[in-house]
Amino acid sequence: MEKQLEALKQSFCEELERVHKPDDLEPMRVKYLGRKGALTSILRQMGSLSAEERPRMGALSNELKTYMEEAIACKADDLKKASSTTGIDVTLPGRSPRKGGIHIINQVISELEEIFLGLGFTVASGPEVEDDYHNFQALNIPEHHPARDMQDTFYFQQGILLRTHTSPVQIRVMEKSGLPVRIIAPGKVYRCDSDVSHTPMFHQIEGLWVEEGITFAHLKGVLYEFIHRLFGKDVPLRFRPSFFPFTEPSAEVDIGCIICKGKGCRVCKNSGWLEILGSGMVDPEVYKYVNIDPEKVTGFAFGLGIERIAMLKYGIDDIRLFFENDLRFLGQFA
Ligand code: PHE
Repeated sequence: MEKQLEALKQSFCEELERVHKPDDLEPMRVKYLGRKGALTSILRQMGSLSAEERPRMGALSNELKTYMEEAIACKADDLKKASSTTGIDVTLPGRSPRKGGIHIINQVISELEEIFLGLGFTVASGPEVEDDYHNFQALNIPEHHPARDMQDTFYFQQGILLRTHTSPVQIRVMEKSGLPVRIIAPGKVYRCDSDVSHTPMFHQIEGLWVEEGITFAHLKGVLYEFIHRLFGKDVPLRFRPSFFPFTEPSAEVDIGCIICKGKGCRVCKNSGWLEILGSGMVDPEVYKYVNIDPEKVTGFAFGLGIERIAMLKYGIDDIRLFFENDLRFLGQFA
């Protein structure tokens, strides 16, 4: 019987070692200590023992009983403590929170604003949902001008559309504020177009300076200063005659390719020049819509694409990257 008790203790210990869930302890208690358990069935043999043997075996079995009860209670305690800390490894290094950053396009807008504020301009804005009058008509874009084509313009109901350029802000500012006007207007514009160099939404910045005595020389002076502050003093500029319905005369401005320094490359299509903005003297026709006397004042306007500036500045070859929200791309500029 002594051997049986020893064997029982042995198997009890081994089994308890393998218990990892508090729920498995009760079945073990029943198995070893229950009324029909292993210890009870050994005790049944007490009757067959001699009178001298009996007290010793009784004491041994009691000792084993207490031992097993305590071991189970102890194990229950351990399991409880372990479960309350599961999943927290206090030795792991901390996880630092992700830091946000300003979107590259907004960074470029701020940089452009900073330059123009330094040249005495103030920042204006206008609605992205525009009417036909401000987006086209008042800018001297007649009814059947190709720019009104459904292919370029997103229309809502009759006469309401998503602005296709920031030029309507020119009209809104001249309608409201008195002269002189010297503003820039950055913002979103929309055109139904999509490929590596076009997205249906992109950003432009508009400039307008109207005041007595403003000439084409002022236009050149401001744009030279702007480009040189943005791309450096050594960048060459060239003014190419062009046409916009709301400026006369008009010029598109090219800069010497900043990728190949004018030698000719893929980006400048081997011309050595990059077109970066449209500009011109405000067409007298436009003043009629905003009650300004073209005999008294003159002015110039310009408009440029912000994504294009960002692409040139950072050597980015696909405009869609700006809007895909891939943090691996955006994070480089944060
Ligand atoms: N609004 C013109 C465009 O989107 C750019 C421009 C603005 C041209 C102002 C001349 C003067 O292409």
